[in-house]
Amino acid sequence: MSIVGPSGSGKSTLLNMIGALDRPTMGKVLISGVDVFAAPDGELSVLRNRLIGFIFQSYNLINRTTVQNNVELPGIILGMSPSEREKRSLKLLELLGIGDKVQFKPTTLSGGQMQRVAIARSLMNNPTLILADEPTGNLDTKTGSEVFALLKMLSNKFRRTIVMVTHNPELALETDRTLYIRDGRLEKEVVH
Ligand SMILES: Nc1ncnc2c1ncn2[C@@H]1O[C@H](COP(=O)(O)OP(=O)(O)OP(=O)(O)O)[C@@H](O)[C@H]1O
Ligand SMILES: [Mg+2]
Repeated sequence: MSIVGPSGSGKSTLLNMIGALDRPTMGKVLISGVDVFAAPDGELSVLRNRLIGFIFQSYNLINRTTVQNNVELPGIILGMSPSEREKRSLKLLELLGIGDKVQFKPTTLSGGQMQRVAIARSLMNNPTLILADEPTGNLDTKTGSEVFALLKMLSNKFRRTIVMVTHNPELALETDRTLYIRDGRLEKEVVH
């Protein structure tokens, strides 16, 4: 699913509430029937880490450690065993076509490669939902299309829901449905 709308219309705010990063002043957020804000604050981060993968426009990688460690981070927080973490991170990096970069630092990679690392990290804990805030916003058209194609492939392969904010109408048309947001409200929903 894609979310589009003018700058300042509330797309990131909506995504951050779905992802339990921002608390709504009214209403509820249900993910697979779980009312995320009904959980005590301490459990919220656990819930978030287990149910949701995040992908950001500017990748948000930790530059002083390796690609592999970046991908394993959500698994560490979840309490996954080191061998399981390694198995999963290597498999995901392979799947995303950057299996040869595991020991590199993120700063030595191209934008498209960094975003692939971020996508692998978002999948580490096998989340129900992946939230992506302008994941192709910092990439040139060709690289952006490649990253988007990967997201689509993952959504099909793992049957995961991906909610993506985008300013690119062509990419929005390639998602199953688009929510149009304006002035903090849902303007319309278009099923493709
Ligand atoms: N925590 C907050 N409390 C109150 N207002 C906020 C908060 N966060 C964002 N806003 C305001 O809500 C509006 C929507 O911001 P948001 O970042 O969601 O827009 P956006 O659609 O993602 O824009 P862009 O396309 O530029 O990223 C803005 O006017 C912003 O200043
Ligand atoms: Mg935004």
